[in-house]
Amino acid sequence: MPFSLSSPLDMHIHFREGDMLKLVAPLSAKTFAGGVIMPNLVPPVDHISRLIIYEEEINKAIIGHGFQPYMALFMRSYTEEELAPIKDRIIGIKLYPAGVTTHSDQGIKRIEDINRTLAIMQDIDIPLLVHGETTGFVMDREREFISIYERLARQFPRLTIIMEHITTKEAVDMLDRYENLHATVTLQHLIITLDDVVGGLLAPHLFCKPIAKRPEDRAALLHIALKAHPKLMFGSDSAPHPVSKKECCGCAAGVFTAPIALQMLVELFEDHDALENLQAFVSDNAKRIYEITPPEKTVVFEKTGDVIPDKYGDVVPIYPGRKLAWNVKVEGEIW
Ligand code: NCD
Ligand code: ZN
Repeated sequence: MPFSLSSPLDMHIHFREGDMLKLVAPLSAKTFAGGVIMPNLVPPVDHISRLIIYEEEINKAIIGHGFQPYMALFMRSYTEEELAPIKDRIIGIKLYPAGVTTHSDQGIKRIEDINRTLAIMQDIDIPLLVHGETTGFVMDREREFISIYERLARQFPRLTIIMEHITTKEAVDMLDRYENLHATVTLQHLIITLDDVVGGLLAPHLFCKPIAKRPEDRAALLHIALKAHPKLMFGSDSAPHPVSKKECCGCAAGVFTAPIALQMLVELFEDHDALENLQAFVSDNAKRIYEITPPEKTVVFEKTGDVIPDKYGDVVPIYPGRKLAWNVKVEGEIW
């Protein structure tokens, strides 16, 4: 029997710029109704003028698809004069601690330095999106950041805070502890552990930041995803890099999942008898948390024998060559 989703959303997506954007943005726009566009370009998207140009570039690439890019600014110290007039043009501001991930060198060195900006965001209702990792030991980086989430949640109780791409059971526990904390989770962190990345032959296409963790962490993430915890949203963190930057010494962090993320989520939720919760996980929770109304789009899934391509352009996706249980068809492409 076919299965359908209405206006699925990807609440954390990397589109890049130029030719890469032209390749990957339509692949997301085909099946998703909208997505939160990450601002970690070089240089970062940290001025409204740059954000507008970037948004135009995206809109040009996805024309005809009925996809709403929700634009995020890169965190620095902002004044109220800067933020108040552009509040409705942005979905939030993304905080990258300096040096924790791809193109985060311009990130924040001391979080106390942006207290004033965070207070303004709380006052005028701009959500804070956070890459929650320290620069400590790789398996502990998210756990070490939990105390920073706690401080932020307490100090700014009316600030909507999104813990991006959570990977640990400690982060899962935070959702029920602080009213203003929410989270996104990726596809890969629901299905892999560190073992899949480095336990056998090294798997560069499964390497991302934050790194996949232990089986008990994955189990905790899967548990809240399958029940569509009301404070959890799907955010693929699909992060394309050319094959030359992945299959080399010094492999770039990022897993490319966008074109098959929904199909694999349907399979995952079906396998766990939880298909009825997928709509909330991939759309309804995000609509409520961010108070957004994305374009209407019905995405229909049918059983298939399709195989994940080896490459999209110059980018290798997660699980090339793997058979997909579900195929996707978009209805109502009227744009
Ligand atoms: C992302 C990228 O390549 O931009 N990489 C990743 O491993 N997730 C950055 C990020 O979201 O951390
Ligand atoms: Zn990301």
